[in-house]
Amino acid sequence: MENFITQNPTKLIFGKGSAARISREIPSEARVMVLYGGGSIKKNGAYDDVMRALEGHVVTEFGGIEPNPKYETLIQAVELARSSGSDFLLAVGGGSVIDGTKFVSCAMRYSGANLWDFLLDSSLLKAIEPVPLAAVLTLPATGSEMNNGGVISRYSTGEKLPFHHDGVFPRFSVLDPCYCFTLPDRQVANGLVDTFAHVLEQYLTYPSESRVQDRFSEGILLTLKELAGPLMKNHADYDLMSNFMIAATMGLNGYIAWGVPQDWTTHMIGHELTALHGLDHGVTLAIVYPALMDVLREPKGDKLLQYGERVWNVNAGSRESRIDATISHTRNFFESLGIRTHLSDYGIGTSTIDAIVKRFSDRGWKLGERGDVDPATVRRILEAAM
Ligand code: NZQ
Ligand code: ZN
Repeated sequence: MENFITQNPTKLIFGKGSAARISREIPSEARVMVLYGGGSIKKNGAYDDVMRALEGHVVTEFGGIEPNPKYETLIQAVELARSSGSDFLLAVGGGSVIDGTKFVSCAMRYSGANLWDFLLDSSLLKAIEPVPLAAVLTLPATGSEMNNGGVISRYSTGEKLPFHHDGVFPRFSVLDPCYCFTLPDRQVANGLVDTFAHVLEQYLTYPSESRVQDRFSEGILLTLKELAGPLMKNHADYDLMSNFMIAATMGLNGYIAWGVPQDWTTHMIGHELTALHGLDHGVTLAIVYPALMDVLREPKGDKLLQYGERVWNVNAGSRESRIDATISHTRNFFESLGIRTHLSDYGIGTSTIDAIVKRFSDRGWKLGERGDVDPATVRRILEAAM
């Protein structure tokens, strides 16, 4: 097991009616800015509950944060937050709204001339203390409600980049499964794949004698496998949605990462597919993961066998045939959610592969748990995804 230091300061407030607690969690003198997306929160009750809980506070609203939150939109939110004197940010929505709010909280305290700079170089954020924020989650997927990361897209340049800062852990997050009952099939499917991929990125590397973390990870994967069918048929089942919310939060709140090697290659390639073609985040992961498992079957072989055996009951046959069966189970799982898993299904071809490989090359990125996934390997993965 590798050395690690861990601390997660986010308070989780879970269950039906939990938004009423907000008033007790936000300082009474705080000037609150409520940030949200395209309007789903006005249909699922979250907006009304939040506004009721904030009665007595000075409240400013910023709506219209889009999926894969846009830098161009968020800089308007920064202006409004500054001009209104807001000193507490409340994100109400999915990962995009929470990530956008994290960006705003850093940007409000960042004195550099160009706010995009800290996406290119996170060290620029070291000296700042972001404005405190909290979240009311309406879409289980990203884990953003209990982590210190965000991913921001810049439409003018076709970029999508992550950033991290310990100051953007939400002070608290409200998880009320009832707000998720209105989710469309597409977003439930995306959330299941995203959570599944988060766990794999922290698990599918090489054996590291991290038995508790491995079994937590396998527990989340098995839970997702078990939930997926019934949840896709019925998004309004409180217990199913509760378990999905916990799986998604646990998938990326740092707990399963204790002392284990990680490999975020699938996410980094996926971000480029979204940046260049607008594909949903979950869709990009469903395309890349089976191909990555195939191309990296040697370095990841031992963990692929463990994953196959413990999650998909693949016990018999040669090493290669077990790995093949494990990859097929993974692909079939994603496809069973209605997500197609090949680049060609989306009309994406070699020019995109060339563009992504060039970007990785220009940035000097070497990914993977051993830092050896170079641009040539990224090309092989994308070609295997065709
Ligand atoms: O904008 P509104 O009207 O709210 O509609 C949203 C949006 O259209 C809708 N939605 C959300 N909750 C709903 C709902 N519709 C009906 N009922 C509800 N209860 O769903 C659509 C997608 O929302 P979005 O927030 O974009 O989805 P998600 O939570 O999957 O977030 C994706 C973003 O998070 C980033 C992704 O890259 C992507 O930009 N990620 C963030 C991470 C993090 N911060 O740690 C990690 C992830 O790997 C991921 O990269
Ligand atoms: Zn993700």
